[in-house]
Amino acid sequence: MDKSKRRTVIAGNWKMNKTPSEARTLACEIAKALEGLDTCDCVDVVVCVPFVDICTVAEALKGTRIKIGAQNVHFKKSGAYTGEISAPMLAECGVTHVVVGHSERRQYFGETDEVVNLRAKAALEEGITPIICVGELLAERDAGITEEVVSRQTKLALAGFSADEVKRTIIAYEPVWAIGTGRNATAEQAEEVCALIRNIIAGLHGKEIAEAVTIQYGGSMKAGNAAELLAQPDVDGGLIGGASLSAEEFVEIVKAAL
Ligand code: PGA
Repeated sequence: MDKSKRRTVIAGNWKMNKTPSEARTLACEIAKALEGLDTCDCVDVVVCVPFVDICTVAEALKGTRIKIGAQNVHFKKSGAYTGEISAPMLAECGVTHVVVGHSERRQYFGETDEVVNLRAKAALEEGITPIICVGELLAERDAGITEEVVSRQTKLALAGFSADEVKRTIIAYEPVWAIGTGRNATAEQAEEVCALIRNIIAGLHGKEIAEAVTIQYGGSMKAGNAAELLAQPDVDGGLIGGASLSAEEFVEIVKAAL
């Protein structure tokens, strides 16, 4: 497996944390800690922040290579959708990535695979990279249906995508039982499912496209386990929740990817 065919992407998912002033502080700390580190050639660093923090963080990170992500996007460009945010709005604020179908959204906000597909499409139309999250519940792993669940989620999320759109998409394998629990998947478990996802993409669009797609692991990734997880041939980065709220910890994870 040739990792040079795709980007390694380390993305922090700040979830519902940090007011704009707190966000500015954390963004500046991350930028400072990354200063002088040559990440540009092989690793993209992204911070996925709450909507209201986007402009502040964009301003704070001006002139750095750190990219800005959002945590959700509506699938219509505009209209009577009170409380929602569209892809053109995000693009104009400088957002380059957006998390789509996170398990917390599937669990607490009833997001279906069909909606995840529409959101990802809307992001791609504006040139924003969707980070599509897939992953099984603990009960599903225990029942031996991880492969079935992740295959279904991946296929439905990518339904109707052209090969070029798939290439511009990131998939994050996030076993739900590993998110925020301190219990990460082992490197072998992460590799097994990331490789499965790549095989599914190969089945849909061919091997060349599959090898160009970034597939992240997420779920209790931290400085102490990042190197082993990221060393796996099909793990091309991480989506990091809790540990991304500490500049020191987050930057250690970036270093583990270099
Ligand atoms: P965690 O979250 O790193 O806190 O487990 C990961 C995620 O939800 O993306």
